[in-house]
Amino acid sequence: MGRKKKNKILEKVAFTGIADRGKAVGRDAEGKVVFVDRGAVPGDVADVVVTRKRKGFFQGRVVRYHTYSDDRVEPFCDYFGVCGGCKWQHTDYEAQLRHKEQVVRDALTRIAKADIEEFRPIMGSSQTTYYRNKMEFSFSNKRWLKAEELNDPDIAMEKEVLGFHPPGAFDKVVDIHHCWLQPDPSNAIRNASRVLAKELGLPFYDARTHEGFMRNMMLRITDVGEVLLLVAFARDEPEKYKPFLDGLIAKNLGLSSVYYCINTKVNDFLLDLPLQLYYGKPYVEDALGDVRFRIGPKSFFQTNTRQARQLYDVVVDFAGLTGSENVYDLYTGIGSIGLYMARRAGQIVGIEEIPAAIEDAKVNAQINGIENAVFYAGDVKNILTSNFAMQHGRPDVLITAPPRAGMHPDVVQMLLMLEAPRIVYVSCNPATQARDLQVLLEKYKVRRVQPVDMFPHTHHIENIALLELK
Ligand SMILES: C[S@@+](CC[C@H](N)C(=O)[O-])C[C@H]1O[C@@H](n2cnc3c(N)ncnc32)[C@H](O)[C@@H]1O
Repeated sequence: MGRKKKNKILEKVAFTGIADRGKAVGRDAEGKVVFVDRGAVPGDVADVVVTRKRKGFFQGRVVRYHTYSDDRVEPFCDYFGVCGGCKWQHTDYEAQLRHKEQVVRDALTRIAKADIEEFRPIMGSSQTTYYRNKMEFSFSNKRWLKAEELNDPDIAMEKEVLGFHPPGAFDKVVDIHHCWLQPDPSNAIRNASRVLAKELGLPFYDARTHEGFMRNMMLRITDVGEVLLLVAFARDEPEKYKPFLDGLIAKNLGLSSVYYCINTKVNDFLLDLPLQLYYGKPYVEDALGDVRFRIGPKSFFQTNTRQARQLYDVVVDFAGLTGSENVYDLYTGIGSIGLYMARRAGQIVGIEEIPAAIEDAKVNAQINGIENAVFYAGDVKNILTSNFAMQHGRPDVLITAPPRAGMHPDVVQMLLMLEAPRIVYVSCNPATQARDLQVLLEKYKVRRVQPVDMFPHTHHIENIALLELK
């Protein structure tokens, strides 16, 4: 038998920044570029074993540290490095912000090759813990064990868990007793759900065999203190789900809306399923400034509410409204950006592909007494045509906030045709934003850029760019 070839070690890799999906990036003494998935912090110097060789770069894992970065801090969560969230908790928050700003700068200059008139410093989040209003958790009969738990027979025997899938383990779940991301009563509701389901003898789901009953839960907790819970069960067996839902409601944990759904599919995606209201109001309310929003279980709403307000204030500022503008709000969700600025504009025209979100947008306009906003459900690519623009008038300001994939090339071409004097591009992925800007630069210049951190301790970055017609 031949000996297994040892993987190459790159020595004294100096880590300098963060890259795609939160990887740390560095170079060895010969200038080879290396990406490391977890552990390393910019400023560290470490030996890295190569796990993958790619054209022009390597991927690897740290095997020995020579120098620790001055930006290292002690992670505060028990599950750091295990559950897959908050990957940058071991890095000082100011340093996280510095690196995120650099990611935006690199994308816009290297990919878009944009000449930016004003690049504003990144806006940090006032809350760096308990900042998420929405979280999803999975029930599982297979526990993911932390290294120190592997030899503890009491823990190893405990099978029914509720928490997060660690990266790459679709069939196992890290049992989470305290998560630092969502405010109270999130931890109390999750922990009570685990205990109650066990007491009632409801089997936790097995993602490999598709047996078990308790599947997933989603919690939305708004800034005004309302709580929406959605629980997914594997089968339509009221004799099992009723005692669970009734028992949880009886614990007085602050639930204002309780939904359930029956998911018989192999995947955990819930938005394509009919959701049944079991208890309370059909929606929860949140507020951004003086605008109230009703949010249903299927609606998209910015996850960090307080930072969303900061983000929207920048959008309003960049839009330069005087009160008469015709504003298109593409990828409008439940109309949040459009409605936030409606009182300062002539007209808002919102487009969004999820019909339920558009219904919410219309209701949200109504409850706020906003009469100058119209909303259309459908793919922006199909709805935003020259006829549509003739019908609704050419936009003076066009807001676009696409998902991570950015805009469809046809939509980018349509924006070039529409020639709105100002475009405010809100992006959650600087790479796709840069790709789209590169095309828009044919007719636009980048006047201002404002990165915003909505998700401390993660690699996610939001960026707002103001484009003006040349
Ligand atoms: C990043 S969110 C922005 C939502 C909203 N503007 C806000 O700030 O809260 C992107 C939205 O685009 C919607 N969306 C995704 N692809 C779309 C498409 N092709 N056409 C229309 N809407 C789409 C999603 O459903 C989601 O509501």
